[in-house]
Amino acid sequence: MTNTVLEIEDLKAQVEGKEILKGINLTIKSGEIHALMGPNGAGKSTLGEVLIGHPNYEVTGGKILINGKDITYAAPEDRAKAGLFLAFQNPITVSGVKISTFLRMAYNNLYPEPKMPLKDFFNMVKTVMKDVDMDESFISRSINDGFSGGERKRFEVLQMIILKPKIVILDEIDSGLDVDALKLVSAEIKKMYSENVGFLIITHYQRILKDIIPEFVHVLKDGKIVMNGNSEISAKIEDEGYDWIKE
Ligand SMILES: Nc1ncnc2c1ncn2[C@@H]1O[C@H](COP(=O)(O)OP(=O)(O)O)[C@@H](O)[C@H]1O
Ligand SMILES: [Mg+2]
Repeated sequence: MTNTVLEIEDLKAQVEGKEILKGINLTIKSGEIHALMGPNGAGKSTLGEVLIGHPNYEVTGGKILINGKDITYAAPEDRAKAGLFLAFQNPITVSGVKISTFLRMAYNNLYPEPKMPLKDFFNMVKTVMKDVDMDESFISRSINDGFSGGERKRFEVLQMIILKPKIVILDEIDSGLDVDALKLVSAEIKKMYSENVGFLIITHYQRILKDIIPEFVHVLKDGKIVMNGNSEISAKIEDEGYDWIKE
């Protein structure tokens, strides 16, 4: 099993000229589960987007490293090749692009040699669809087109499983999922965790953290990590909210 380490050093970023991330320090390694919590608008999603290189966000300081390699300004596909994956909080609709086409392209980009035969690839996709309780018919639908909130999240999880990343960022993966779907998703996370994947689980509730106990909990407030600890923090947030945590 190869080990991967994602290092975030004094990361600052802005969107539309507004500074959102004000110096983030965080290290995530293979086989670790971190939770990033924080009130609405703290900058949690912004961190996820900046890490995978979304073009709307401009890095204004600091560094992102994977295994010591600087990827702060790398193209999103190079970050994916380095093993990073983000499941979006609000996955967008891409009309006219079928799930089958998209998955095949994304997979071949990451794993070009030897090319997996088409039949084997789609058999794998179908198996994973069963695991995440997505009907096979979704394979020929356009990305997220007319999908419910829960279906969008399942499709994010499907991509996570198929693309085999080394460090996974899950942004509010539990929102929009009912109890049964959440169980499926938690089981998939645990499976990947047992295979040495590292996780950053972003959430402002602690619903998913009842099932997946993070070793490390970080609290983000106004673009800064204001507290680091273990799951005692998430339990206290459940009872008392965020007000007791001062900057
Ligand atoms: N694309 C964007 N355009 C303008 N403002 C944005 C954009 N993305 C995020 N923001 C702003 O950045 C701040 C942090 O947002 P976000 O990262 O989504 O917070 P969180 O995920 O913690 O709720 C908010 O004030 C939000 O309005
Ligand atoms: Mg968010």
